[in-house]
This record gives sequence, C-alpha cells and structure tokens, in this order.
Amino acid sequence: MTQEATSTFKLPVKDLAKKVICDGHLFLTSGGRKFYLMKPGVFVDPAFVKKHAPHNSNFDFETVVHDEVKEKFKTLFRELRYLQFEKDLRLKCFEIVAYFYRTYSSDEHFLSFALACHEEFCQISIDEQLKMHETDMHLFRKSIYSAAFAVIIGMTNDFYHFLMLKDFYNLTMALDIGLCDTSYSWFVAQACNEENRQPGTGKAYLEKEKATEQEIQVFLKHPERGYEFLKSNSLLSHPELKEVALYQHELSDGNGFPRGVAKGQVSSWEAVVIFADSLVDIRSEYSFETEVIKYLLNFQNQKLRDLPVGRVYKKMCMAFDHLGSMKETGS
Ligand SMILES: [Fe+2]
Repeated sequence: MTQEATSTFKLPVKDLAKKVICDGHLFLTSGGRKFYLMKPGVFVDPAFVKKHAPHNSNFDFETVVHDEVKEKFKTLFRELRYLQFEKDLRLKCFEIVAYFYRTYSSDEHFLSFALACHEEFCQISIDEQLKMHETDMHLFRKSIYSAAFAVIIGMTNDFYHFLMLKDFYNLTMALDIGLCDTSYSWFVAQACNEENRQPGTGKAYLEKEKATEQEIQVFLKHPERGYEFLKSNSLLSHPELKEVALYQHELSDGNGFPRGVAKGQVSSWEAVVIFADSLVDIRSEYSFETEVIKYLLNFQNQKLRDLPVGRVYKKMCMAFDHLGSMKETGS
C-alpha cells in the first residue's frame, strides 16, 4: 500500500473478476487516511475517481476473500434451501454457524461470508445497489455487512428456513435504502447509527453537526422511504416483514419517529433484523473485520432496553459460546 502522492491511479482493475461486489478491498489513500471500499461492479468509473480521489491520492486493491470459504458457504446455503424436515434444517444451520465460527477464528475473512450471503440471498436490483454505493460507499459497506449479520444472527436464533433468512438479508439492506437520497450526506447515516445506539439522539446529532434541514428531513423520513421501497418491490417472501422498515425507530413510549406511535413488543424476527442493523457502525472501517466474534460478544446497545434484542443477542452469544467450548474440549 503506497501512500506517496501520485497523479495516476494504481488499480489493477482487470484482475478483478466480473462480480456484483468485488472480492477484495479497494483502498483509496488520501492524506494518510485509508478508505475501504466494496464496490458493486468491477469498474472504477471516471466519475467515481473524480469524486473520491481528486488529488494526491492512490487507489490500491487487496484480495481478501478466500474462494474456498465463500464457495463452501454457498454450498451450505443451497443445501439448506432444499431441506424439508425441521431436524435436518436445524442441523444444517448448526453446521453453517459452526463453519462461520471456525473460519473466522482461523483467520479467514468475514468478507468471504458476506459475499456468499450476497450472492445467495440478495434480491435488490443492481441499479439500486449502485445507487446505494454512489450515495455513500461507507453506507453501502455497512449495509452489506449488516445484512450478512442478519443471516448468522437469524440462524443462531432458530430461524432455519432459507426463505426467512433471505428475507432478513434483503430487509436489512432495505433499511438503509431509505437513507439514500440525492440530498444525502454521511451524517444522515451516522444519525441512524446514533439513534440505534441511543434512541432519541439522531436528530440532535444532526443539529450538532449543523446538518441542513433537507438532511434532517431525509433522516426523519427514511423509515417511510424504506417501507415504500419494499412495498413497490416484491423482494420478500414474507411481505409482512416490510413493517420493520417503517417501525425501525419507533419506541415503546411513543417518542420515536416518524409517526410517534407506541411500538409494543416486537417479535424475535424483528429483533434479529434490528440487532443486525445496529451492529455495524458506519464509522468503523476495520474493527470488526479482525475480531468479529469479540465484537459481537461485547456488544452493548441502549436499544436492548427497549426491544427484545437482548434475548436475540443472548441466544447468539450462547450459540457461539457453545461452539467455543466444543472447540476447547475437542468435541
Ligand atoms: Fe434507521
């Protein structure tokens, strides 16, 4: 990774296979800061370069996906898809969670899992994904990772059916589609993160950052926009799940938004998606990639008090703990 100033971009684009999302990290080094990208498509178009690398910056590419690991996950997902009996489904999910745990702790990369999930589960159109990426690459990366988390969290919480997991994936990505708007700024997605961490703080965060009125409106309306997107695109096998987008920031005391309705007890599947959406911080570029399990196990969130996310979280920890102790005892 070079950091020297250069007027040409070192980007071996032709080495990238033709995929929706590249199997590596594209880095833009600018002023000593590394930006990490996952870009849909294989090209780096001139507009993209102009936008993100105006001066003294350098692109570099590093492959991080282990093809073998990615393909193994895809095979496991496909096997899951065609199973019918509850016991077989449960065993297959256990196998997938165990493989996730094992590959991660043996230095394989989360991106292998994220890409396998994307290739097997994603129903969101390429155009829509490109729009998301063009809106903000950090938001796009966050969506891809959150959606992958929704799959593994779902499995550790006894959601064994392929179609339900697929819905979790697309719903989690769609939560962020509501944030993509022509007047979007990075702060808007950050406000959503703040709101997830501590309900009621998102708008105050935007005001503190001197966001424009338009940005505040995008933030306040993103649950409705996400909901409308899901309504007009038949992505979900369980269409009732689209309500999660609408109610993602409503609270039990009625102090949430956009409608300010008192949101009562939420179901486990709703908690899975909200938990997954809360896990990835748009600001963190590397932290959980290196220590994802530790990150998951140390997760703390104010929203746990308001939603039964705590139950979902505990169950996931139990699943990982179980795998961890099996590994230690060699069973
Ligand atoms: Fe949100």
